[in-house]
Amino acid sequence: MENNVSIYGEHKPELEKLLNSILLQVSEIREEMKSQLGIDPVEHCLGRIKSEDSMREKCVRKNLPVTTESALEKIYDAVGVRIVCAFVDDVFTIRDYIVNSGRYEVINEKDYINTAKPNGYRSYHMILRVGGKYHAEIQLRTISMDTWAALEHHLKYKKKIGARQKLIEEELKRCADELASTDLSMQTIRDMILEGDN
Ligand code: GTP
Ligand code: MG
Repeated sequence: MENNVSIYGEHKPELEKLLNSILLQVSEIREEMKSQLGIDPVEHCLGRIKSEDSMREKCVRKNLPVTTESALEKIYDAVGVRIVCAFVDDVFTIRDYIVNSGRYEVINEKDYINTAKPNGYRSYHMILRVGGKYHAEIQLRTISMDTWAALEHHLKYKKKIGARQKLIEEELKRCADELASTDLSMQTIRDMILEGDN
């Protein structure tokens, strides 16, 4: 019985509207930047409404009652958008566009790019609030960061790795740092090319 009722109550259409408006805004930002840079800064952009099962599971994991209130007001990623850019600078340019659009209350930002998580994870996270009511999590990252996160996510769900766990974690961290260093080099190359245009 309970299971036929959405954890989002009657709010699903509003969440979908919010998701679509963010995706539309991202495409407008892309167009704007394309007209300035000559190239599209976004490699790809994905949006989703968190599935019923994942949301229920997350409520339990966070010791929250499995209710619509928890799903909308205590957990902030019912609506999620991931924007993957070619270059690090574009991540921050897009972040500025979103913040300066004035459409949202920015309630939290985590810069895991300048301060990576201990495991090597890098990404720029923002929690936005709209109309004092709905929330969305935006993740901005480069292609390298996205690749690493995807691989690490796969490994997390593999069965217990036992004695080699520590070595594997160290290797993952090393890969993350090497990718970050490559991102910096790519950014430098890009800056040189842009300078050459002037
Ligand atoms: P939850 O992880 O959602 O419980 O919230 P939090 O308070 O830990 O927020 P954080 O901003 O650290 O993480 C939010 C999301 O970022 C996660 O749900 C993942 O999608 C992603 N993320 C954070 N850390 C990692 C990580 O170490 N590896 C990978 N692959 N993804 C991560
Ligand atoms: Mg987390």
